Amino acid sequence: MQPIGREDALVLAHYYVPGEVQAAADFVGDSFALARKAVASDKPVIIFCGVSFMGESAKILCPEKQVILPVADAHCAMADRATEEEIVHMRGTVPDLAVVTYINSSARLKALSDVIVTSSNAVKIVSRLKEKNIYFIPDPNLGHYVAAQLPEKNFYFGHGCCPVHDAATEEEVRAARAAHPAAQLLVHPECPARVCAQADCVGSTAEIIAFAERSRAEELIIGTEEGTLYELSRRCPHKKFYLLRPDFVCGDMKKITTEALRRAFAGEGTPVEVAPAVAEGARRALHRMLELAQ
Ligand code: 13P
Ligand code: SF4
Repeated sequence: MQPIGREDALVLAHYYVPGEVQAAADFVGDSFALARKAVASDKPVIIFCGVSFMGESAKILCPEKQVILPVADAHCAMADRATEEEIVHMRGTVPDLAVVTYINSSARLKALSDVIVTSSNAVKIVSRLKEKNIYFIPDPNLGHYVAAQLPEKNFYFGHGCCPVHDAATEEEVRAARAAHPAAQLLVHPECPARVCAQADCVGSTAEIIAFAERSRAEELIIGTEEGTLYELSRRCPHKKFYLLRPDFVCGDMKKITTEALRRAFAGEGTPVEVAPAVAEGARRALHRMLELAQ
């Protein structure tokens, strides 16, 4: 591949990549903001500093653009945690059903879905679906969080999870609250329901950052991946942030280094390709997300 001119590329980064990569990006955001930024860009190239489903979603939404992953083997652990057989079985068994798939999923799963959601728009989107029954895949933790706010719907859940967030425990919440009694607790909805129930704020990475910025609290316990601390400290330099658990780290997000970004600009990144038939179905479900999230 040819080297990429800086002026031709939009560099997108998720809050979980290392701080120095976030500093080098044109835009840093949560999954939903990143997808929207990709669509709005007028640059011919997007270099996506994040796990593969993020670059894949950008490519599906922007087929005319070249989307480059600096690291091809950085993947989300739950992206493939549902099968076509399970979806077909549910569609054949449960009437009036919508298959709602978290954006942390492969293009193949998206193509089998009615609509895609992110953690920041899931409640709004599911509330706008006409179907009574919701098959929420692959993350049951996020699914239960959404279901708790929409008692008028009937939910069925998949069986994936994020190993990084699902590992958070009530004991860790108790210990963090005891160590920092004045602090508020902010968690991502990929955490188990028992952890979310203890929190002052449950939200996407961008919502956690916005809450911390608005909050009058000077100390905050953060129940999501440690890369988020970079933006939190940048926006709120006088506040103190404590990670809920010391190893709140997504190893795949940490593969995206500044050296990998440099190599991507040198033409050594991996262009994202999605098979046309899969891309077509996944695009329909992603576009439905963009419409319903308005
Ligand atoms: P956000 O959409 O909140 O940024 O979450 C993405 C993610 O991978 C959480 O683990
Ligand atoms: Fe996937 Fe979890 Fe990493 Fe987010 S933190 S990208 S959900 S493995």
